[in-house]
Amino acid sequence: MFNDTSSLRTHLATRRSGKARDMITPGPDADQLHDIIALALRTPDHGKLAPWRIVTVAGDQRDILAKLLKDAWIADNPGAAGMDLSALDQFAHQAPTLLVLISTPVKDSKIPLWEQQMSAGAVGMNLLHAAHAHGFVGSWLTGWAAYSPAVAKAFGAGEGDTIVGYFFLGTAAADLSERPRPEYDDVVRAWDI
Ligand SMILES: Cc1cc2nc3c(=O)[nH]c(=O)nc-3n(C[C@H](O)[C@H](O)[C@H](O)COP(=O)(O)O)c2cc1C
Repeated sequence: MFNDTSSLRTHLATRRSGKARDMITPGPDADQLHDIIALALRTPDHGKLAPWRIVTVAGDQRDILAKLLKDAWIADNPGAAGMDLSALDQFAHQAPTLLVLISTPVKDSKIPLWEQQMSAGAVGMNLLHAAHAHGFVGSWLTGWAAYSPAVAKAFGAGEGDTIVGYFFLGTAAADLSERPRPEYDDVVRAWDI
């Protein structure tokens, strides 16, 4: 049981994503990262299937990631050059820390695929909260790099698996301003049956 609900509320009310390209060091150290991931794994999971995997990308693996992305992009877009490739380089190298979250649904389970995929999304949300709890900022990004089958395979995704997102973690360079949020009444209504 939480006995410090006001600080938990503050945590929930103040977390927001940062721009990965603006993140600076420090990122989480090894113990902090382990705890962030362990906290994120405390996620609702119908059937206790753990239908998700997290791949940590070490700092000295960023060049390998950049090459992987560029090779896969060129294979998909013959003749690609210049801006496209430098954007991929930038993507691969941004922020101090990078995790890749993969949805790995268990096939032929009685738990519907949708529920297993939602559980993977919940791990993603938990990662952002856990990073925030440790004083870091996170950013959940997808884009082409998340949907390239060649890139997914390089992260160990099998058939039916999907990259949920790249989770960049680090320190925010400046205070993050709040972004517009949906109006409560636009998205919440009493059941009017
Ligand atoms: C599944 C998913 C994928 C996303 N992919 C991107 C992306 O590729 N590029 C981007 O700018 N924002 C992306 N976002 C949005 C940001 O992660 C983030 O939600 C937004 O910037 C503000 O988030 P906040 O409410 O946590 O502050 C994605 C969000 C989700 C849930």
